[in-house]
Amino acid sequence: MAATASLVPSLATHSPTKMRYVKGLAEYPGLTSIPSAYTYTTTATDHATSDPEECSIPIIDFSLLVSGTPHQRSKIIHDLGKACQDWGFFMVINHGLQESMMKAMLEVCKSFFDLTEEEKQEFEGKHVLDPIRCGTSFNTSVEQVFFWRDFLKVFIHPEFHSPNKPAEFSKISLEYCKKTREVASELLEGISESLGLEACYINKAMNLETGFQILAANLYPPCPQPDHAMGMPPHSDHGLLTVLSQNGIDGLQIQHKGKWIKVNAIPNSFLVNTGDHLEILSNGKYKSVLHRAVVNNNATRISLAIGHGPSLDTIVSPAPELVNIKNHPPAYLGMKYREYVELQQSGQLDGKSCLDRVRVVNTE
Ligand code: OGA
Ligand code: NI
Repeated sequence: MAATASLVPSLATHSPTKMRYVKGLAEYPGLTSIPSAYTYTTTATDHATSDPEECSIPIIDFSLLVSGTPHQRSKIIHDLGKACQDWGFFMVINHGLQESMMKAMLEVCKSFFDLTEEEKQEFEGKHVLDPIRCGTSFNTSVEQVFFWRDFLKVFIHPEFHSPNKPAEFSKISLEYCKKTREVASELLEGISESLGLEACYINKAMNLETGFQILAANLYPPCPQPDHAMGMPPHSDHGLLTVLSQNGIDGLQIQHKGKWIKVNAIPNSFLVNTGDHLEILSNGKYKSVLHRAVVNNNATRISLAIGHGPSLDTIVSPAPELVNIKNHPPAYLGMKYREYVELQQSGQLDGKSCLDRVRVVNTE
């Protein structure tokens, strides 16, 4: 007989906040429906469009940014600026990371999720600023509805951390994250220039030498009722840029002009979105895009989202060069990045951006 949600063993194990991994739940033999705690309601207007006109996501050829002619480079910088302004999102091709390295990183993250629940227990950090933390959903201590997602979050820069299982995790993630940091740094140079600033402006102002880089590996197992569940609800990312790759299975959607757009990723490309701190730094010129991850009923999706942010001690406010009291007054209050991260990670991912906490409200 096919299992129904009511026959699935209790979700909570030791305490109300200690949830089962969704991986174990999805593997329950014959599961045909999801437990009600995972039922996520979307309205009709929330459905994503596949209209090719609306899905023309910008593509950035990274090789032209780093080794193109001056003419090619300035065209790419212009395109980068436009992508940040109009979309807050772009795909990066020819980024120089070998396919084998991308595969190895996805593989080792899969091996982490394949550890037993007992083995993973060691890495279930308690606090959102614990450098290694795995779990399920987003923040089960405050959520009423759970997301069809397990995760591993690891702080990798300025101090490198790694779970000690699987054994190869440390070596592979160190290399992969170093390379993505280089890509992010080059992109941020181009983005600085696109704002009319010096190429090294963001790197310097955000203290990227000790910038906070975090790896979030996401596992979305097959879900028997994908239209009734959500992998990750609408949210924006806290950093400057997030560089995402995936195991060939799509699921990311971004909000563009009020509509949800499915991202059909070019194989081996990076999916890059601008984060809250690029919006703050650019005084609102570049928008931190809302995005979400949907699930499917046949394939396990793994995504690796690497967040690149200022150093945790940097107090970020709009770049003075982009502020003009008359026409462009500062639109955000300054906040220390560490406090912002803590605020965002301790709350609920409920579609409302944490940016509302620092936005200057015009009371006129
Ligand atoms: C994230 C994220 C989307 C995805 O980890 O912040 O938005 O497609 N992930 O997994
Ligand atoms: Ni995100």
